[in-house]
Amino acid sequence: MSAAAGVTTPLMSTTADTKSTDPFVAHSHVQSSKHEQHRKVSIVGAGAVGMAIAVSIINQNLCSELTLIDIDTKKVSAEILDLQHGMGAAKMPVVVNGGSDITLTRHSNVCIVAAGVRQRVGESRRDLLNRNAELLAPIIRELARLSPKTILLMVSNPVDVMTYLAWKVSGFPASRVVGSGTTLDSSRFRNLLSKRLNVPVTSAHAYVIGEHGDMSVPVWSSVNVFGTQLRYLYPKAGTPNDPDRFNEISGQIVRSAADLIAAKGYTSWYEVTSCLALCVTPRLRLNDDSCGGGVGVSVCVVPRSFERF
Ligand SMILES: NC(=O)c1ccc[n+]([C@@H]2O[C@H](COP(=O)([O-])OP(=O)(O)OC[C@H]3O[C@@H](n4cnc5c(N)ncnc54)[C@H](O)[C@@H]3O)[C@@H](O)[C@H]2O)c1
Repeated sequence: MSAAAGVTTPLMSTTADTKSTDPFVAHSHVQSSKHEQHRKVSIVGAGAVGMAIAVSIINQNLCSELTLIDIDTKKVSAEILDLQHGMGAAKMPVVVNGGSDITLTRHSNVCIVAAGVRQRVGESRRDLLNRNAELLAPIIRELARLSPKTILLMVSNPVDVMTYLAWKVSGFPASRVVGSGTTLDSSRFRNLLSKRLNVPVTSAHAYVIGEHGDMSVPVWSSVNVFGTQLRYLYPKAGTPNDPDRFNEISGQIVRSAADLIAAKGYTSWYEVTSCLALCVTPRLRLNDDSCGGGVGVSVCVVPRSFERF
């Protein structure tokens, strides 16, 4: 099994024992009832994005067990404890555990991958491609081996290429491998339209296709506000010669992430909504084995070098 430079072996451990001897594994004191259905979500990568997803999953009571895995043992044990400390105030306490040993993810209903490197200021998502592919391939292989019936949800960037990688490496059917794709871009599109038109975001319907990030394509012809096509009101909306300059929004969608990264170093909050709506909620709340509705279309070019995986 190959591992990226800097990836230490404990995470890649293949020991079959779920009762890990990892000294950093922290377990919750909260036990779920034997009678309630056991629903386990594992998140690999306890960084800004992974933790935003974790908090939202707990708050929505979407699982009975949440396992956090990160190569940074000190950080992940602190994050686990921090979450456990909040369980006293939780409506439905969740068993929170984890550590650096990936075998703790065994028998997960859903595995979310938010590990790896993120963009630095001035970097594109594509710049992360080779670094994250080398790092994630062995993680995905292990997740698939330990939870052969799980749904894999990819968040790490470049997310569309990493989703393809996950499908290829796991050997899972495509219906069980999903990425957040352009859902974030679509949400940014809707937000920008709602501000421009001064309408609630829930009434502004719009989609972005293509690849998440710089190669995304807003579909202006599909924009619908309060049930009316935007182009019925503004026939040239989104075109280069649009007198109302709606097309400025196209650039803003792409620039949003770079602006946020320059200001706060990362983006994280949307992934929560996107991930849960896409996959975790239908799988866990409705007990539906497939991925949920509302899935957008994203495409990407996969480098030939991916044949090595
Ligand atoms: N899909 C989207 O819409 C979207 C949006 C924002 C961020 N992202 C991506 O999500 C990823 C995570 O972003 P972040 O801001 O949380 O980064 P972060 O640096 O805060 O967290 C990444 C975590 O991964 C851990 N990690 C690194 N190697 C690991 C390994 N081998 N095994 C387990 N854990 C490992 C690190 O220790 C760190 O805690 C990035 O690739 C980022 O580009 C995607």
